[in-house]
Amino acid sequence: MSETSSSGRPIVIAANRLPVMRTNEGDWSPSPGGLVRALYPMLRESGGTWVGWTGDPDDHAEPFSVEGVDLHPVPISAEEMNLYYEGFSNDALWPLYHDALRESTYDSEQWDAYKTVNERFATALAEIAPADSIVWVHDYQLQLVPGLLRARRPDLTIGFFLHIPFPSVDLFTRLPWRDDIVQGLLGCDLVGFQRPRDAQNFIATVEQLLEADTSDDTVSFDGRTVVAADYPISIDVAEVEEIATGRATRQRTSQIRARLGDPEVIMLGVDRLDYTKGIGLRLRAFAQLLEDERLDPTRHVMVQVATPTREAVEHYQDERASIERLVGEINGRFSRIGLPVVHYLYQTLPYDELVALYRAGDVMLVTPFRDGMNLVAKEYAAAHIDGDGVLVLSEFAGAAEELTDAVQVNPHDDRALQDAIVEAVEMHRHERRGRMSGLRDQIRKSDVQGWADRFLAALEVASSTASR
Ligand code: F6P
Repeated sequence: MSETSSSGRPIVIAANRLPVMRTNEGDWSPSPGGLVRALYPMLRESGGTWVGWTGDPDDHAEPFSVEGVDLHPVPISAEEMNLYYEGFSNDALWPLYHDALRESTYDSEQWDAYKTVNERFATALAEIAPADSIVWVHDYQLQLVPGLLRARRPDLTIGFFLHIPFPSVDLFTRLPWRDDIVQGLLGCDLVGFQRPRDAQNFIATVEQLLEADTSDDTVSFDGRTVVAADYPISIDVAEVEEIATGRATRQRTSQIRARLGDPEVIMLGVDRLDYTKGIGLRLRAFAQLLEDERLDPTRHVMVQVATPTREAVEHYQDERASIERLVGEINGRFSRIGLPVVHYLYQTLPYDELVALYRAGDVMLVTPFRDGMNLVAKEYAAAHIDGDGVLVLSEFAGAAEELTDAVQVNPHDDRALQDAIVEAVEMHRHERRGRMSGLRDQIRKSDVQGWADRFLAALEVASSTASR
């Protein structure tokens, strides 16, 4: 069974990863990551098809169904995992699209593997997608798929959503295969981005590279018109609220506070251990505040959850080593016997445990150098059903556009970051509640179902006006 759009057309989703991964016992469980958490509830609601990789190399699993969702695995070999996933996707595109925070590796063997895997996805989609259906392709690992699929199946409506930032023209044009990537994306009817700036960067890039005709939100190229606009992604607010309200979560939250020594203020960070997330910045800010005695290790503690990710990529190994050294230094300097001042977990925690931690967190620190959206910021607000808690949020997270009731900060400015943390810690209850109420109103206005509905409705309009 396929999910259908509001006009009744079946929908097929393509993303690098399937929404489930194999457990050690050989069953399937939801795979981690914001993309899955955002889209899986939508497909589970009404059934649907998802095309993607199981996450295991050389996995030739047959199509199967979980919770009414049809899953169609695309195999990726160990060598392709190295070249396409760790290499081109995460060592060339990822740093380039995140303000070139680390040097990208541009390697034509990796590019060839990226093309091969994108071809494989396009072939699978061309075979599976019902006549006249809608195919929704996701993220930077699959940017060639729209163009390849359009060539094979001109009857399809094709949408693409980029979950990470789209860089400025000056950065993007460093990419040796820049024309191929933009032409791949132009196979769509609608290309969606997190922020208006990302859509503008894309349009400016197309204009410069292909000399295409453009307007505020359209590109005309090769006889077709493609819409490019922003659709900021969100979370399943009801799911988080339901977990947060549960008795087990309330008990776990009290237990966490007690285990941390019942401090006055718990500061929390929850991130994939990625160099874009600014984990080191916030740890250094915390250490400086302890050093300057603006914070007190007997009253203020930090919990940092760092989820393992892309561990084979060198930049990630370096980042982990640097964070762990820093945590050790801070604890060595400021902890007391049995009471570390930074509690660091390099683990993938179950979602229920994360929600309990969000509830326990008096101050949430989200300080990326650059982030497409940052769903953790939204999850924190959704979990605070008590109406309390303060979010400190980097200006460079996509979420900053909407979450204007957060304490926003430029994380590159170390003094400003320290001041923002102190402001959050010392904020009067009345102001805290006012800001949290603003954050919660904002996320309730646009949850993940609304995001998907808006994107799909715009995609159908775009495809009805585009000449195919
Ligand atoms: O935000 C970008 C993204 O690739 C998401 O699509 C995904 O949920 C997350 O990062 C995790 O990445 P990976 O699939 O490489 O573990």
